[in-house]
Amino acid sequence: MTEPKKLFVKTYGCQMNVYDSQRMQDVLAPLGYQSVDSAEGADMVILNTCHIREKAAEKVFSDLGRVRKHKEAKEASGGDKMIVAVAGCVAQAEGAELMRREPMVDMVFGPQTYHRLPEMVARANRAIGRNRIIDTDFPAEEKFDHLPAQVSNQGYSAFLAIQEGCDKFCTFCVVPYTRGAEYSRPAMDVIGEARQLVAHGTRELTLLGQNVNAYHGEAPNGGEWSLGRLLRELAEIDGLDRIRYTTSHPRDVDDDLIAAHRDLKKLMPFLHLPVQAGSDRVLQAMNRKHDNADYRDIAKRLKDACPDLALSSDFIVGFPGESDKDFEDTMDIVRDITFIQAFSFKYSPRPGTPASAMELQVPEKVKTERIMRLQALLAEQQLEFNRNSVGREMDVLLERRGKYEGQLVGKSPYMQPVHVSGLPETALGQIVRLKITEALPNSLGGELVDATNNGQKSERNVA
Ligand code: 5AD
Ligand code: SF4
Repeated sequence: MTEPKKLFVKTYGCQMNVYDSQRMQDVLAPLGYQSVDSAEGADMVILNTCHIREKAAEKVFSDLGRVRKHKEAKEASGGDKMIVAVAGCVAQAEGAELMRREPMVDMVFGPQTYHRLPEMVARANRAIGRNRIIDTDFPAEEKFDHLPAQVSNQGYSAFLAIQEGCDKFCTFCVVPYTRGAEYSRPAMDVIGEARQLVAHGTRELTLLGQNVNAYHGEAPNGGEWSLGRLLRELAEIDGLDRIRYTTSHPRDVDDDLIAAHRDLKKLMPFLHLPVQAGSDRVLQAMNRKHDNADYRDIAKRLKDACPDLALSSDFIVGFPGESDKDFEDTMDIVRDITFIQAFSFKYSPRPGTPASAMELQVPEKVKTERIMRLQALLAEQQLEFNRNSVGREMDVLLERRGKYEGQLVGKSPYMQPVHVSGLPETALGQIVRLKITEALPNSLGGELVDATNNGQKSERNVA
């Protein structure tokens, strides 16, 4: 039997990249590659990169320096060649530049071509001397049609990509350029894959897409299904207990989706719905295609339909031209809506995007002051939500062992990690009803409500 080859994949950025990395491992498994958790001595290293902000892209170049040392050490000690690959959005956006700056990189491929990995690896291995490969096409064939069934064990909580790409062209964002045009997978493919995951033990499914609620996949009997329609169908799958989806755009929250939040108990009452900014002027310059009032209206309609629903969001501060008054509009919308979690970023000019060429770039010092104020407010809201959870009962999906002996960690409907002691490890993978007894900024503690309910399916908590 031949020795397995060691594959090290490092993932940067969003959940879509986490998903893509898993799928790359699936594609390479039949070629004898097994995942390891260090680049040292690896036969192949893939950096699956993110281009969304400058810092993420810079990190790739500093990590490549470290990979180079491992590659040199391996080859100097007489080992086989280490294939070094850069994948993902930096590869897509800066492939040629990467090849020029980093001569030891063997392969560069974008997010739309990793189904071609086996062929690329064969070409790289076959090469006498060097054979560098760059594949940043947006191929005509559909990647999802050429990927094997998911083989990596995703566990109790799994991701499933249903949509990719974006046609929105927010003026700050590289995604439409790196991920390409919007594409929705046919509904039957999604349902088939979901069933397969559930058969392998998945209880919670997170549907992924850059613009997931723009989903309009081919319906089983012709026509198209919206995300709301697809969710209804997925909710019928026995053994699947929780459904989430991310990331959404306010413009694509339609009546169907709101009704799904009203009707489907399996759909978790937690939604990541980026608003980015509160000022209409800034939202327009961002080309967000919604204004402050639209967002407030959508949030209200969602909460009317599902009273225990809570929102999280993304924010950008210091977008070109953002005045003090504009920033105060962001603070106001946060105060009014309240978000139980959030990601906030200083605006980072990205090459090739319209906003990077805009006048009135905001000084770094102002961006820093604003983000500190915003983050303080958001942290306060998150802590308050966690504190208000104390005394409530919540259904928690137990996912892993905790740091301490006898402790397990699970996830609440609101994505809060919840620690619980005194349950056997056999409870992992079960949904248990816990009474929340303790709140920290980023997690909760709880205890079992009713021992007889342990491991039974329970309904989600309604506050
Ligand atoms: N600068 C800062 N933040 C950005 N994001 C996207 N592009 C930029 C940029 N150029 C943020 C947005 C988006 C999240 C994934 O990243 O808030 O929702
Ligand atoms: Fe980027 Fe806007 Fe598309 Fe989101 S909707 S991926 S922020 S262009």
